[in-house]
Amino acid sequence: MKTIGTPLSPQATKVMLLGSGELGKEVLIALQRLGVETIAVDRYENAPGQQVAHHARTITMSDPAQLKALIEAERPHLVVPEIEAIATPMLQELEAAGTVRVIPTARAARLTMDREGIRRLAAETLGLPTSPYQFCDSLAELQAAIDGGIGYPCIVKPVMSSSGKGQSKIDGPTDVKKAWDYAMAGGRVSHGRVIVEGFIAFDYEITLLTVRAIGADGLVETHFCEPIGHVQVNGDYVESWQPQPMHTVALERSQHIAKAVTDNLGQGLNGDSTQGPSVGLGLFGVELFVQGEQVWFSEVSPRPHDTGMVTMTTQWQNEFELHARAILGLPVNTALKSPGASAVIYGGVEAKGIVFDGVAEALRVPNTDIRLFGKPESFVKRRMGVALAFDADVEVARVNAKLAASKVKPRVA
Ligand SMILES: Nc1ncnc2c1ncn2[C@@H]1O[C@H](COP(=O)(O)OP(=O)(O)OP(=O)(O)O)[C@@H](O)[C@H]1O
Ligand SMILES: [Mg+2]
Repeated sequence: MKTIGTPLSPQATKVMLLGSGELGKEVLIALQRLGVETIAVDRYENAPGQQVAHHARTITMSDPAQLKALIEAERPHLVVPEIEAIATPMLQELEAAGTVRVIPTARAARLTMDREGIRRLAAETLGLPTSPYQFCDSLAELQAAIDGGIGYPCIVKPVMSSSGKGQSKIDGPTDVKKAWDYAMAGGRVSHGRVIVEGFIAFDYEITLLTVRAIGADGLVETHFCEPIGHVQVNGDYVESWQPQPMHTVALERSQHIAKAVTDNLGQGLNGDSTQGPSVGLGLFGVELFVQGEQVWFSEVSPRPHDTGMVTMTTQWQNEFELHARAILGLPVNTALKSPGASAVIYGGVEAKGIVFDGVAEALRVPNTDIRLFGKPESFVKRRMGVALAFDADVEVARVNAKLAASKVKPRVA
């Protein structure tokens, strides 16, 4: 983008977010600060990002006809997917027709929409180390895959799911049917395909935020943030911190894997870059498992990552600002400001229009901050906010972030 216009004028630079949850909300705020006109799309009204954007639109984003109609009506310069459950083949069509530019590319959105596209790309096309895996369409196929080499323990996940939904660990033969049934109940669509993965006994896991941005010479450059360590419970992130200390070799391997994956996802329509040097821009969250000097690729989000919310307190430019800058063709700086940590605030109750007690007490914990996302409805395990803490000692930051999160008490109004 050579220039940025004035919002709400004919010269406006318009960006549409597909998905307007807590991550989209922060991207929208970052875009607003750069003078971009924003359109926040979600499947329900008053989603977090819709509360801060110029325009709010509510559609079923997995419905290709609704998606096409909205994009053609709004004519944004950029379409920025924030979630996976989007009619990505339609995005590919619209991108191919030159109607819109998709961030980072429509192809990347499609490949990462389910676990199969990205896993086959990473392991089979790029030859990167991953857990052993197989895709299965029935309980019998699952059992055969385990017996045929995946072995125990292993992990079963619906091909279409995120945040650990429908995912479980199998320790022995008696768990297999339970894991299959759980996956069938937890997937996003009912076509019933799962991935079974050999269990990796990693020492720790990281998210390596990787940014493709235009450099001074006009070509795409790859930048890495400091590695983010995190803890997942039942496949959902509960706390994260930055930096995660790493062996030099493991860090180099991690960056090598992240570069290989993002270089590929950054390519255009047919796996080439015929759309020019500004193709495939933006921030990616590359998830990796580490054991000693060994590194395995797990998955990648072609957009800001939930564990990267910690960067709101640890970096000069947080992951949302990095994404906003990169997609607009602006320079980025991934430097760390201070070590720090984040801890999730869950809803704890099932109700609409809840209230939060203890916010002042939370903010009395040294060097902390919080975000309440403003979600209209709370569920027990819904992420409603996050506590942030910085400290020269990352372990102190972790303690303080968790302490601050624990002080916030959501309740029915
Ligand atoms: N093969 C594996 N071996 C060991 N642990 C695993 C394996 N696969 C997944 N996990 C654990 O489960 C977590 C969630 O897995 P994964 O990232 O594949 O699911 P997800 O539903 O996409 O989660 P999210 O959307 O939160 O990233 C991982 O971060 C890791 O802690
Ligand atoms: Mg994950």
